[in-house]
Amino acid sequence: MARNKIALVGAGMIGGTLAHLAAMKEMGDVVLFDIAEGMPAGKALDLSQSGPVEGFDANLKGTTDYADIAGADVVIVTAGVPRKPGMSRDDLLGINLKVMKAVGEGIKANCPDAFVICITNPLDAMVWALREFSGLPHNKVVGMAGVLDSARFRHFLADEFGVSMEDVTAFVLGGHGDTMVPILEYSTVAGIPVPDLIKMGWSTQEKMDAIVARTRSGGGEIVKLLGNGSAYYAPATSAIQMAEAYLKDKKRVLPCAAYLEGQYGVDGLYVGVPIVIGAGGVERIVEIELNDEAKKGFQVSVDAVEELLEACKGLDSSLA
Ligand code: APR
Repeated sequence: MARNKIALVGAGMIGGTLAHLAAMKEMGDVVLFDIAEGMPAGKALDLSQSGPVEGFDANLKGTTDYADIAGADVVIVTAGVPRKPGMSRDDLLGINLKVMKAVGEGIKANCPDAFVICITNPLDAMVWALREFSGLPHNKVVGMAGVLDSARFRHFLADEFGVSMEDVTAFVLGGHGDTMVPILEYSTVAGIPVPDLIKMGWSTQEKMDAIVARTRSGGGEIVKLLGNGSAYYAPATSAIQMAEAYLKDKKRVLPCAAYLEGQYGVDGLYVGVPIVIGAGGVERIVEIELNDEAKKGFQVSVDAVEELLEACKGLDSSLA
C-alpha cells in the first residue's frame, strides 16, 4: 500500500512541529516546503535522524520547489509571519495575504485533490483567501482554529475542576480572534454540562467567566510569554488531529473554520463551527441551537470575520 503524502507549506516553528508529529505517528511521507533556502532540507534531515531512535519509518524531504508537493493527500499551511508582542492577528493581514496567493497557486498546480488545512493567521480570512487562490472545492479546505481554542478551554476547565483533560469536552464557535465564542452550556465533564457542575458546587460562574475570557486571549497570552513568536505545539497537534480524521476517514466531530452556505444564518464565509471530517473532507456542518446570548456573540464574531474579508478584497482586487 502506498504511503500517504503530507505536505507542510511553511517549515517554521509550527511546520517543524507538524513534521515531527506526522513522522512519529507514521502518518505518511512528509514534504517540508519553505521559501527559506536550505532550512527545510536541514529540518527534514534532522528529523530523519531522529527516526532510528524513535523507530519510525517515514521519508522526510525539505524543499523550496512546489513541484515536490505534487500528489500530496494533505497540505497543512503555516507559511507567513507569526505575531510578535503587541500585534493582533489582524496586523498580519497584508503580508500573509500575499503569501496565501503564492501558496494557493502552488497547491492548485500540484495537488488539487488534497485536503488543505490552513493555520496561517488571521485564520478566518486566510483560509477564505487560500480557498479562493487555490480554487479547490470548499469541502476540501478548512481552517484550524476551533480544535486549538477548545483545547485551551478544555485545559483551563480541567485545571479548575481538578479532573483529567480527557474527560472534558469544550465548545468554541466563531472566528479565531478575540471575538470567539466559548460556550459553557455545551462544555462538559464526562457528559455533565458545566452549568450543572456550577449548581453542584464544583465551581462558580465568576471563575467560569474568567476562563472564558482567558480562552479568548489564549493565543495572546502565549505570544506575550514567548516574546518573539506565537504558539506552535498546540496548534500543530490540533492540525494533526484534523489531518488524521481525513486520512483515516474517522468522521471526527471537530470545531474548525468551515465554509458556511446558509448554516447559522451565514453565507459565503469561513467561520468556526463543529464539522464532521472524514474521507470526503468536510462531510457535514453540525448546526446546533444557540441561546440568545451565544447567538449575539456569534454574530459579533461573524461581523469581525466579514470586516477582515472586506480588507482582503481591498488589498487584492482579484478577490473582490
Ligand atoms: N511560502 C512558503 N513559506 C513561507 C512564505 C511563502 N511565501 N513566506 C514565509 N514563509 C515561511 C517562513 O520562511 C517561515 O519559515 O513560513 C514560516 C513561518 O514560520 P514561523 O515564522 O516560525 O511561524 P509559525 O510560528 O510557524 O507560525 C506560522 O501560523 O499560527 C499561525 O500566526 C501564525 O501566521 C502564523 C503561522
